[in-house]
Amino acid sequence: MKNNLLLKDNIYWIGKIDDRKVPFHRLILEKGTTYNSYLLKTEKPTIIDTVDIMYSREFVENLKEHINLEDLKYIVINHVEPDHAGALPALLNKAPNATIVTNAKAQELLNGMFKFYDKNYLIIKDGDSLDIGGKTLKFLETPYLHTEETMITYALEDKILFPCDIFSSHIATYDLFNDLSKDDIDEDFKVYYKLIMSPHRNYVKDMIGKIKNLEIEIIAPSHGFILRKNVEKYIKLYDNMSDIPTENLSKKALILYNSMTGNTGKIGGNISEGLRDSNIDTTVLNLKSLSFEEIKEKVIESDLILIGSSTKYGDMIGNTEEILKEIIKLDLSDKYLAAFGSYGWSGEAIEIINDYLKNSNGKVFDTSYIIKVTSDNSIKLPLRVRFYNDNEGKKLSIKTGRILGELLLK
Ligand code: FEO
Repeated sequence: MKNNLLLKDNIYWIGKIDDRKVPFHRLILEKGTTYNSYLLKTEKPTIIDTVDIMYSREFVENLKEHINLEDLKYIVINHVEPDHAGALPALLNKAPNATIVTNAKAQELLNGMFKFYDKNYLIIKDGDSLDIGGKTLKFLETPYLHTEETMITYALEDKILFPCDIFSSHIATYDLFNDLSKDDIDEDFKVYYKLIMSPHRNYVKDMIGKIKNLEIEIIAPSHGFILRKNVEKYIKLYDNMSDIPTENLSKKALILYNSMTGNTGKIGGNISEGLRDSNIDTTVLNLKSLSFEEIKEKVIESDLILIGSSTKYGDMIGNTEEILKEIIKLDLSDKYLAAFGSYGWSGEAIEIINDYLKNSNGKVFDTSYIIKVTSDNSIKLPLRVRFYNDNEGKKLSIKTGRILGELLLK
């Protein structure tokens, strides 16, 4: 193994440099990219993330030169997308004694993706540690950076952070370390953030909070340069790029609802909580005792309008329809719209509200749009929450508010 692939004390880069023009999120990465994987040659040899699925065979063949794969003890999977977990099946074929170390959500996704039925897992939770024989790994869950299962691995004694996609850049660099680069990499670093992380700014802030007390000498991400110079600067850049300036309070959201048992009202409140995380000036109104004339000005001044109703006898309740009919007569061409509601059986009201909104000249947020812009498929719009009798409904509603707030700021 070449010396320049050594990060520190028996920790090696074992990735793949992809200098093609790489198709990515409907763009072409003109500078290519790298898939960074790492080998920790300890008493219990461990690999952190793999490479893109199309380089599986090459990855495994290369590894055989450096380690007897039967000795491989752990494979840490920080993120399941195929550019990082893609070579896992090929690797496990040759490393039958290895245990996959990841979280419960990632396990579910890996099993679904690769039809794993009999693999060994060690399921970790946020803050757990693992002794790999001479080194300690600590795991931090960082959901939605940029998918639900994402997590970070920290090598305690070596002070190396392995954050997978976070802190990455798309450059097919043969220098690998940022201090060896002849070019300024900051622009590539920022472009990557904008492309992948910017719809998840509140989660970036959560992540910064989790790593702020770690001593970090090296950040070893899964794409592009390994950062071992000016590490603090790059963390600060993420922190700053995720700031939501207070002037965003000029963006306004209006949440209107009719609620039979209070659950649709709770969802409206949760969505507003998420929106306020993005400093969106949010008003929540129970339509029950309001007329259209009383809310008209609020509708006109809002950038985002959400309308929710419980379902009774397969329809909206109260004055929801009467008010909807008036709202869609307005010019909504500069506004985003979305429907929501709690339901018990079919939740027809939510769909009927959505139909009304689609008949206006406003822009209706839907699932397709959310997936294309955020790569997040855990949010579905219109937002439907069945019974709202557990924490999940609350979490989902707050998250929906956060995502809508981010999209409003884009
Ligand atoms: Fe680099 Fe989310 O995959």
